[in-house]
Amino acid sequence: MKSTTAALLIFLLAFVFSMGCKHELPDPPPENCDPNKVYFSKDIAPLLLSNCAMPGCHDAATSADGVNLSSYEALMNSGIINTNAPFNGDFWEVLTETDPDKRMPPSGPLSQSQLDLIQDWLSQGAPNSICIEGCDTTQFTWTGSIQPIIQTKCLGCHNATTQNGGINLSSYVQVKTIALNGLLYNAITGSAGVQQMPPANPLSACENSQIQQWIQAGAPEN
Ligand code: HEC
Repeated sequence: MKSTTAALLIFLLAFVFSMGCKHELPDPPPENCDPNKVYFSKDIAPLLLSNCAMPGCHDAATSADGVNLSSYEALMNSGIINTNAPFNGDFWEVLTETDPDKRMPPSGPLSQSQLDLIQDWLSQGAPNSICIEGCDTTQFTWTGSIQPIIQTKCLGCHNATTQNGGINLSSYVQVKTIALNGLLYNAITGSAGVQQMPPANPLSACENSQIQQWIQAGAPEN
């Protein structure tokens, strides 16, 4: 009896240990965003969430081909990036594939600037790098704050090709339209029965406040 208990304990310890060791590198500590550096949290996660981790594709529920791209942990556990040779795995391969039938996303390749971000991040060894963005609630111009939020957090699901919910946010005029009819406010706050946007990772309180002040100012193209 005693030895059975001991064996069980050893088994449990080994199990817990192996779970905790799926990727050996410790996460780098969060730092203030350096504009010249690429971070997983700021640059890569929003890109994956709006271009790959959609329902029916690589969200946690669907995990098409066993690939879940909804978090850093999930991406690493999908086995498509080898941190020792980041460019050799399937991840980089499908993004840069020239055959459109094998390339991801199926709707069309990522832009060169998005691929550049991923390439930079892979060259760093694909770390779970997190940076804290110096978001300033007193700044809410279209070009300085609003357009960058729309581009990184919304456009992947709301462009001319992928118009989820019939919404295309590719141009200022299109964003202005939903800003002035109240839909943008309802979407970012999840009010009036509208599903909160972006679906998986809501905007920060600061980003929300910037958009709300910009809407109140009449959504100018400043
Ligand atoms: C991961 C994909 C994804 C991202 C990122 C995303 N959306 Fe959406 N959005 C959707 C889907 C899917 C729907 C359709 C939801 C439905 O019909 O229930 C939708 C619907 C909407 C609608 C229409 C809501 C309605 O009820 O008519 C608005 C407005 C919207 N999104 C704005 C945004 C904004 C603004 C952002 C960025 C801050 C954003 N979305 C980011 C997927 C996304």
